Amino acid sequence: MQKNIYVFENKGKKLYVEFYSDEIVRFFYGDKIKESITDAVILKSKSVVVEMKDNFIKGKKIDIKITDDLLVKIFDKSGNMILEDIAVEFSVTEFQKNKVNDLENIENTLSGEEKKKVFAIEVEKKLNWEKGFYGLGEKYGYINLMDRYTENWNTDVLGMSPIHHSAQNAYHTSIPFYIGMNEEKAYGVYYDNSYRTSFDFKKYSDNVKFKAEGGDLDYYFIYGENVAKVVENYSQLTGTVKLPRKDFLGYQQCRWSYMDTAEVLDIANKLRENDIPSDVIYLDIDYMQDYKVFTVDSKRFKEFKKMTEKLHEMGFKLVVIIDPGVKVEKGYEVYDEAKEKDYLIKDENGEVYVGKVWPGDSSFPDYLRKEVREWWGELHRGLIDLGVDGIWNDMNEVSDMSTTTKTIPETTYQIDENGEKRLQKEVHNLYGHYEGVATYEGLKKIQNTRPFVLTRSASAGTQRFSALWTGDNSSVWEHLEGSISMLLNLGLSGYSYVGSDIGGFIEDGNGELLARWTQLGAFYPFCRNHSVMNSIYQEPWAFGEEILHITRKYIKLRYSLISHLYNLFRESSVIGTPIMRPLFYHYQNDSKTFNITDQFLFGEDILIAPITRPKTETRMIYLPVGVWYDYFTGEKYQGEKHIIKDAKLDELPIFVKEGAIILKNKEMNYIGEKKEEYEIHIYPGQSNEKEFYFDDGLTFNYEKEEYSLINVKLNEDKIEIKNVVENYGVGDIDLVIHRGKKINTIKNISIDKTYSI
Ligand code: GLC
Repeated sequence: MQKNIYVFENKGKKLYVEFYSDEIVRFFYGDKIKESITDAVILKSKSVVVEMKDNFIKGKKIDIKITDDLLVKIFDKSGNMILEDIAVEFSVTEFQKNKVNDLENIENTLSGEEKKKVFAIEVEKKLNWEKGFYGLGEKYGYINLMDRYTENWNTDVLGMSPIHHSAQNAYHTSIPFYIGMNEEKAYGVYYDNSYRTSFDFKKYSDNVKFKAEGGDLDYYFIYGENVAKVVENYSQLTGTVKLPRKDFLGYQQCRWSYMDTAEVLDIANKLRENDIPSDVIYLDIDYMQDYKVFTVDSKRFKEFKKMTEKLHEMGFKLVVIIDPGVKVEKGYEVYDEAKEKDYLIKDENGEVYVGKVWPGDSSFPDYLRKEVREWWGELHRGLIDLGVDGIWNDMNEVSDMSTTTKTIPETTYQIDENGEKRLQKEVHNLYGHYEGVATYEGLKKIQNTRPFVLTRSASAGTQRFSALWTGDNSSVWEHLEGSISMLLNLGLSGYSYVGSDIGGFIEDGNGELLARWTQLGAFYPFCRNHSVMNSIYQEPWAFGEEILHITRKYIKLRYSLISHLYNLFRESSVIGTPIMRPLFYHYQNDSKTFNITDQFLFGEDILIAPITRPKTETRMIYLPVGVWYDYFTGEKYQGEKHIIKDAKLDELPIFVKEGAIILKNKEMNYIGEKKEEYEIHIYPGQSNEKEFYFDDGLTFNYEKEEYSLINVKLNEDKIEIKNVVENYGVGDIDLVIHRGKKINTIKNISIDKTYSI
């Protein structure tokens, strides 16, 4: 039988089972299957060959049994139970009906137990064999979500007590996707619901429960023979990062705020004078006139265009912040136009809602509609004409300082594409996403280059539009360490272009912290140093010569690996692989890797083990099976064991796997400074093959096949280098062969040649 949808019915209730592939199946409970309000799923469902008998669907990769009560049981082809429902509740309860219009006060008025009852749409899945649960986007705490309860409700965490803390459930971003796994098996569940959702991994029950405050019970089961395959399948379903500009993978310098032209140019000069390779400088909110978005304070930034020209001459790109809150002020064009065209979110009485953000009284564009998104996108034209290169979207949870919940009331509403009212409680978690869509699409029309958009708030699918940073952390050691699992879980949730504020945002940092954080941050996919107003400065030179030397060393290391990173991004843009990966991503059959939160893989072959504590110069490191080499000394280590490693303040433990083929760049101050020159580093011992991708790093010309691909094959004592695609000029390449501590270089190699090594 070849269909894509199967319908099951019991006592007037219906379950639709819809196939997206042999491994991705949607389960929708309700009268009529319908499209989701979220913008997450972009894969089209398709007919899949299955056999169906007695409520048992036999597929190519999985078998599905639907019970009389419409419970789902999923098996792999060996008959092992993968996922099994215990209970499914998908009708709105009386309790919810009564409370539904009063949700704004729920946090304040209901007890914990009562609060739990509000989540009326509920599924309980049996905890069968899983040893780890991962994903759920941006969550602080150890990487394994087992024994934890968490919620999804996009929240401006700053001012929440405590911030960036494992007891804080709701973060800026909500991705209701999790992975369950053990040494042999893996699957994912994506709950396509934009209401407040909650996930309980054996904290309040013996099983796994997910719930929502409303909407449909509409989820996707995602199978895969391992975690990596599950992530790839989830990425197929919801999309991948677009290949970023290469310069936006460089080092980025930010502060709230660089206050005027002189300060911005001073920062630019200091970055160059101090020999810190760097590509991007940011303007935080103070560049605007009275915090009015799309304006520039012409006193402090008198000749804005001249400033951007100067920055561009020096090789810098400029990003400016744009918040969604539009200042309520008659005569301010953006506000007047939004008001007149009815583009702003309204309250329960149908009046434009007024909240408070940086400009004081502010209203919020309703990005749910395309028309509003297009208007917003077009507003960026002025900034781009002034030489701005990228946009930073902040406060888009959406943050509102006038309420206790820190967001606009749940009774405010937005209007969807069909003119239907959607209460904030339904679409709240999508606000940052649709702002990202508006900004990305707008920039794409205005610029010839690939847009760069950075967001604080996101939902499933936002990875297709915006890079993400994890918001307001603090300059404390715990947040340095905590960033690792936060970014790893984001990567497993299909979000690979991510980073945290290097040096920490709130509070005053110090030199030692900045040195260690820059060592780690050099391997963040998105690498930006940022700090709050009134804190002490934390640019690389702020803490004296020693710290400057260390930060320079690691930022240079990032630039030496920038083409390697770019290639990881290319892979991510094609199949969705994270850049920063937990060890179990490649060593799933080793359960020792399941709970490691202070080490990670950068791609497949480079292992990073940062020092995450103060005054600490020694740490334990787990090396998975195989042979590993110290990146700096070439010292050889046998894996599948813990080692103790010393690491003085200027040392970061990095290991390279035997067989690795790594593309490195020769020194540069910034991307585009000169024609790039490369080194291919080989660590013989294991056979391996890699394909390296090269393009202009800037435009969409790669979509017209203007790129080159070089294949490198390592086989015992031979290296074969071949052109696969040759549509973009690649600079000179040296070959560097590492045999433990011995290094041998072959200068300027020819492509399409085999070298004996
Ligand atoms: C928010 C952002 C922070 C920014 C500040 C001022 O707190 O998270 O990065 O500097 O607003 O715009």
